[in-house]
Amino acid sequence: MRHETIEKSVNLMMVLIVVAISIGGLVELVPLMFSADATEPDEGIVPYSALRLAGRDVYVREGCYNCHSQMIRPFRSETERYGPYTTAGETVYDRPFQFGSKRTGPDLARVGGRYSNDWQRLHLIDPRALVPESNMPGYPWLEESTVDTELITTKLRTLRMLGDPYTDAQIASAASEVEGKTEMDALIAYLQELGTNRTARR
Ligand code: HEC
Repeated sequence: MRHETIEKSVNLMMVLIVVAISIGGLVELVPLMFSADATEPDEGIVPYSALRLAGRDVYVREGCYNCHSQMIRPFRSETERYGPYTTAGETVYDRPFQFGSKRTGPDLARVGGRYSNDWQRLHLIDPRALVPESNMPGYPWLEESTVDTELITTKLRTLRMLGDPYTDAQIASAASEVEGKTEMDALIAYLQELGTNRTARR
């Protein structure tokens, strides 16, 4: 009977759904907010350089996360294939994090340095030229568009406002760092760093 009342009242149902989801959210999120592991960067983890930050934004814009996760789970099958599992402290400068939940392609959390820059470039232009059975789309236009130099300075400033420890010098040189670089250069710089500057904690 009570169940029927809930099912028949959309408003009550909505309120109860929100309550149910909030409890789930609180249980998962609140402990992390108070855990240094999640809020303090691991040793060696620094904010993205201007070029890599620009590359990361290309990654997000192009939706690479729809097919690639950046979250190695603490299971033998994962660590054998991809390397040490992902820790929360690695991703404190990721806004938003790129954990992803779909692996049409492999996890990319440790892909930095696995291939040469040339491999990455060719693969991003035409994946099937290198991996014939790949179903990854090509991104040839990234070679043609250059990184927006004005926007990158604003991005770094904004991130500093949010607490990322960028120095004045980094912000001042951001525009010149990305000057003349294509989005492809930026994306490759981002990919090549993934997982490389963490110092092994385990
Ligand atoms: C439709 C799904 C899909 C999308 C979208 C996609 N990929 Fe892929 N990606 C794959 C598949 C499948 C593979 C494995 C075959 C291959 O190497 O091409 C792969 C492989 C890769 C690899 C090699 C990984 C390794 O360890 O061998 C990299 C790097 C990569 N993708 C980067 C990207 C980037 C960057 C983007 C966005 C610009 C992107 N991918 C978008 C499906 C996708």
